[in-house]
Order: sequence, then structure tokens, then C-alpha cells
Amino acid sequence: LFLGLDVGTSGVKAILVREDGEVAASALTPLTLSTPQPGWAEQDPDAWWQATIASIRQLRAEMPDARIVSVGISGQMHSSVFLDRAGEVIRPALLWCDGRTTEQCAEITRRAGGEDRLRDWVRNPALEGFTLPKVLWLRQREPEAYSRLATVLLAKDFIRYRLTGALATEPSDASGTLMYDPANLRWSDDILNAVGVPRALLPEVGGSSEVLGTVTADAARLTGLDAGTPVVGGGADNACGAAGVGVVTPGEAVASWGTSGTVLAPTAQPLVDPGLRAHTFCHVVPGVWYLMGVVLSAAGAFNWYHQQLARELDESGASRRALDAEAASVPPGAEGVTFLPYLQGERTPHRDASARGAFVGLSLAHTRAHLTRAVLEGVCFALRDSVAILQELGLSPHSLLLTGGGAKSPFLQRLQAEVFGLPVGTVNREEGPAYGAALLAAVGAGAFPDMAAAVRSTLTRIPGDTPSPSSHAAYDEAYARFRALYPALKGVAG
Ligand code: XUL
Repeated sequence: LFLGLDVGTSGVKAILVREDGEVAASALTPLTLSTPQPGWAEQDPDAWWQATIASIRQLRAEMPDARIVSVGISGQMHSSVFLDRAGEVIRPALLWCDGRTTEQCAEITRRAGGEDRLRDWVRNPALEGFTLPKVLWLRQREPEAYSRLATVLLAKDFIRYRLTGALATEPSDASGTLMYDPANLRWSDDILNAVGVPRALLPEVGGSSEVLGTVTADAARLTGLDAGTPVVGGGADNACGAAGVGVVTPGEAVASWGTSGTVLAPTAQPLVDPGLRAHTFCHVVPGVWYLMGVVLSAAGAFNWYHQQLARELDESGASRRALDAEAASVPPGAEGVTFLPYLQGERTPHRDASARGAFVGLSLAHTRAHLTRAVLEGVCFALRDSVAILQELGLSPHSLLLTGGGAKSPFLQRLQAEVFGLPVGTVNREEGPAYGAALLAAVGAGAFPDMAAAVRSTLTRIPGDTPSPSSHAAYDEAYARFRALYPALKGVAG
């Protein structure tokens, strides 16, 4: 069996996958997100580790005789783990959706000599969510902590460190640090020198399906894994999520609905959006890159809505279905109610960490059902902005594979198909990034020659809704309203 881990924002998932691709067991340990100030977002890396231990132990308890051949790890991108010389965590990690580093982004762009330079060096602009601005923030705002800083790691790489003692990353996650050149597959001395961050803070970069360490005796005692079990490089959650639905080659695209929402299309070259609205990162497959638009609050916005405004509905799947049914009782466009999901700022297309959410167009005639529909439509419209950017750049997928929460609800599947104007589909596995991580572990253990073969052998496509031109057009007016709102509210909200 292969163990796939995903260090997400809402929890740490662990799954055991058989060689035929069947999921033998799955465990999820929830995590909380701390927002000490509006726009900030932190988590304690040691809480990730404790949740990882709990999830693995649960699998072990369910399948005590399982022989785990190898481990793959996926995790939230960009989030900064700051370690001291002893390998201890210095302060909570600043997460991918933390927006406090606007000043540091401006400083990076200035010190680099402009955005064109950044494009040449690291193929991406300085955005608050990326890792480098967080390092500069620590240097400026918490100099005592910075003076103790010995290593900067990403979430899944911290779990690797705790599991194996190895300080390492791989290209898909290194790409999101703004310190790595995804086109030339190396840390960028240009940017590091421009901002004065020592290369020694960064780990070695290995391959996503390459074994980069083995489980230590200590980690074996804590998790119940066997000491010596190989751990492969793994990958960024979006890359592993794409791999987990079989999107590993150019020509396809995937829309993911996790805490964040993303639309990702693999490319055969490191293609850069001239407007720098979408990100250019390495995939978990050598020689493949992807362009990705990121919505900072997808399930994040829906969960907020659920907890704050529809709280009497419990957290079970039944309540989600109840909300879907409520939304379905209102026509497309929510009879004039529009929701902007920018609760934690927005990346694509606005690149504005200070953007904020809004409900607009309310009247006495509206009910909670309208709000529910508006929230779900608002997230889909935000994702449509990313679909439109990919199309504008010539990446016009014939259909979109869905993964995450948006793949699990029939209502959301149809809503996405209609709003995007594209057929959607799913696969026979629902485990998302943890599944992609398990496939990388399987490739690393030699069970498959490469990821394309792993995907072919383990996944089956399930065609979903195909929208009619009129069902797509039914959203034209509401989408136009959505598009007009951000510029209209800029400076008022946020
Ligand atoms: C991608 C991003 C998010 C996180 C979520 O750039 O910031 O999708 O990876 O875990």
C-alpha cells in the first residue's frame, strides 16, 4: 500500500492506496485557522505534525497489518515554516492566504528593478501569498525571530522533515516561493541577491516522485510507520490535486474547490500570463508546467457563509445538500443578488490582498435562499475569471475535470458547467491531492514507470454535465454584474 498525505488548510488527510488504485482507508484530522487580524492567516506547523500523526495512526489502527511501501506528501502551497538551527518552529506559519505583506511585495519589485525582472527571474510577480515576502516581513517586523532563522520550509516539506529528518523540497512547491525559477529548475540567485536573503536558508530540491528521505526511528514510534519507509518528494496541493484526477499532460484543465479555488491547465512550456494574473509553476511531472488562476476563498467563503448565516444547519453532508436545494430553488442570477467572495483578498484576476467580500443588490423580496445561491454563484464567477484568462492565453480546454467540494455536489457540478460554459467531468476517486501524492509514492517505489502510467492504471473518467448555450447565457447578466462590482467597490470595501 502507498500512503498519501495532504497537509491542507482545513485538515490533514491520510489515505492508503492499493496498487490497483483502490483507496483502502482514509482519515482526516481537522485543523483550525487563526486570523489574528483581518487579512492575516496563520497556523502552527506543529499542529500540522500532530494532525499528521493522528491521521496516520488512525489508518494504522484500521489496517494494522497493512504493509506501507512508500509515502507521498502534498500540502498547501507558499505557507512559510520558519525553523531555527535546532529544527524547532520559531513562530506560526504565515499562510498562502495571508495578506499582510503588501509593503514587502512592493519592496521586492523595487529591489528587483521592476516586474519585468521578476518575470525573467521567477516567472511570477510578487504577491502577498508567496513565501519570499513573508521572509522579508519576518526580517522587518520580528528581527529577533529572523536572527534565529536557519531554514525556510513549506508545509509538506516540514512534515517530510519531521518524518525523515531531511530538509528538502521539489519543483512544484519551490515554484510558489518566488525564490525559484520554474523555467530553469533552480533557486534564483538573482532574486535572492536582490533582496539579500541567503540561499543557505533554502532546502535542496529533489524530484516529486524521487525518494528524498526515509522514516526515522523517532517518527516511526510516533506514527506507527516502519522506520526506513521511503518518502518521495511529493508536491504542491494544486499539482497533486490535478494529478489526483489524472491531469498530468497539456491539453486538459482542472477546477478545484478547496478552501481556495483554482483553475489549472498543464503546459509543455513555462508559459507566462502577460498580465501576471495567473501563476506559472512546475507540475509534479518532469517537463510539464502549468498556468493557474487562484481564488483565495472558495469553500472558504461557503464555509464562512454556512457558519455565520446558516448555522442552524449542522456540519453534515445533509446540511450541504439542504443548502444546495435552497440555492436550486432560486433562478440563475439569484434575482439580482451578487456576492463577491473576496473575504481574504483576491489573487486572480485582481491581485489585491485588500479586496473584501460583499453582498450587493439585496431587497425585502430576497430570502436566505438567494444569499445561498449568490455565494455559490459568486465563487463560480470568480473561477470563471480564471477560466477566461486561460482561454485568452490559448489554453482552451474542451472540458474541465472537477475536484474537491465542487466535484462532490451534483448542484455545484452543474452550476460550474453552466457558468463556465464547458462540459465538466470527475473521476472515480474523491481524495484530491492526497491521491496524487499516493500516486507519486507509487511511482517512486517503482510500481509504475511514470505518472502518466499511474494515472492510466488507476483512474477512470466520469463524464458530467454538458451545458446548453442557453443555460450558459442565463448567467451572462449576473456575471457582468459580478465583473462590474470589484472596480465599483474598490476603495470603499477594503
Ligand atoms: C495556490 C494557493 C492555494 C493553496 C491552498 O497558489 O495559494 O491554492 O495551495 O492550499
